[in-house]
Amino acid sequence: MTTPKYYITTFGCQMNVHDSEVLAGLLESMGYISASSCEEADLILMNTCCVRENAENRTFGHIGNLKSLKDKNPDLIIGICGCMVQQPTELEKIRITFPWVDLVFGTHNLHQLPELISRIREDKSGRIFEVWDCDGAIYEGLPVKRDNPFKAWVTIMYGCNNFCSYCIVPYVRGRERSRQPEAIVGEIRDLVKDGVQEVTLLGQNVNSYGLDLPETNWSFARLLREIAKNTGIRRIRFQTSHPKDLSNELIETIVEIPTICRHLHLPVQAGSTRVLELMNRCYSKEQYQELIDRIKNNIPGIALTTDIIVGFPGEREEDFRDTLDLVKQVRFDGAFTFIYSPRIGTPAANMSDPVPEIEQKLRLTNLIKIQNEISLEKNKAYIGTLQELLVDGPSEKNPQVWAGRSSQNKLVHFKPAPRIKPGGFINVRIAGAQTFTLEGEVIG
Ligand code: SAH
Ligand code: SF4
Ligand code: F3S
Repeated sequence: MTTPKYYITTFGCQMNVHDSEVLAGLLESMGYISASSCEEADLILMNTCCVRENAENRTFGHIGNLKSLKDKNPDLIIGICGCMVQQPTELEKIRITFPWVDLVFGTHNLHQLPELISRIREDKSGRIFEVWDCDGAIYEGLPVKRDNPFKAWVTIMYGCNNFCSYCIVPYVRGRERSRQPEAIVGEIRDLVKDGVQEVTLLGQNVNSYGLDLPETNWSFARLLREIAKNTGIRRIRFQTSHPKDLSNELIETIVEIPTICRHLHLPVQAGSTRVLELMNRCYSKEQYQELIDRIKNNIPGIALTTDIIVGFPGEREEDFRDTLDLVKQVRFDGAFTFIYSPRIGTPAANMSDPVPEIEQKLRLTNLIKIQNEISLEKNKAYIGTLQELLVDGPSEKNPQVWAGRSSQNKLVHFKPAPRIKPGGFINVRIAGAQTFTLEGEVIG
């Protein structure tokens, strides 16, 4: 018998990207190897996202396209997992519309994959739809097949308790559950032994790390200090921080520990206090501005990025002007910008006063234009400075040019030299700047 091959397609955030690394690890522990395309795979998994409607539509398009592969090869196993299938309506839609899907499992039971595949292989005629709706326990020690040999994702907590009124994540990922600090530190120590230089700690709101642990005096800042002291990791990143509870202790910890990268992703979502209230974000425009001032005053050289939603129900022209005003005042290094997408089951989906689509698009274009001007100006300010980069390797678009990331998470292009290796650190002087990238000249 030939070795079976798997192919995984991932939609959504880093949490899903990392879950797919675990799925790949589980499959390899069963003897599967990675296929280079869907066409040559014996098992295809689609790890889905439902944060906005377009993510779901793309997934449905992909599942539709798989029918022809199943027609050609009836032994092919097609599986769907991830956030989308945690919604009963979407699960039903998959069951009815896509009979060629053999296997569905959710975000709380991905550790079951080997068992579910064995069951499918034994009973070729049956389909398995197994989605848990309770908050899963935390399963430690699952195998991980990392995509990158020197950068790793480390989940520190699962779920979200914040229930922002537009957001589906708490419904599909369950309540907050923190991993034990010893498990996190142990994992990072092993990663360092394996050659990893940089970890990104993942959680929907890392600032509430530890609040659910039985030992009461844990905080995210304390976890960072433990990691910095006890693992030997060269660089620490994390995402995402909710502005409502970013503590002074965290700011002090970033200042104290040089291995914590000088970059904070701090989603603001909107600049109008009225809209922020409708969104249930638990801070006002002024409180966000005050927090930004505190961060800038205490952590020199910090880069700030954000997420912004435009066209939330009830967002008036003057509310949108508040968002532009905040963007100009804070001068973010970059922003992920989204048009509001109603999600069934969230409070905002039932709110009155929707913003017409044409108006949403105009606001988005306007916002992106202003943010891009600021991003370019902020990047230009780096010209002439020295930056240490962790080298990624040849750039995707042009392999003659290599890319690396600075502590501020800036993507820097430079000319390769023989002694420079992916995963190594180099120093560059910044010689040029565009909206999304910098150019550096290698020093020494
Ligand atoms: N937990 C993180 C990220 C959650 S999802 C946080 O709180 O920041 C990533 C981003 O998607 C959010 O920050 C938000 O800007 C956007 N988003 C979430 N739900 C959305 C919706 N219904 N419509 C449009 N954008 C949405
Ligand atoms: Fe969604 Fe808000 Fe939780 Fe982020 S903090 S995952 S935006 S509910
Ligand atoms: Fe999407 Fe789930 Fe992440 S809904 S954004 S993949 S937590």
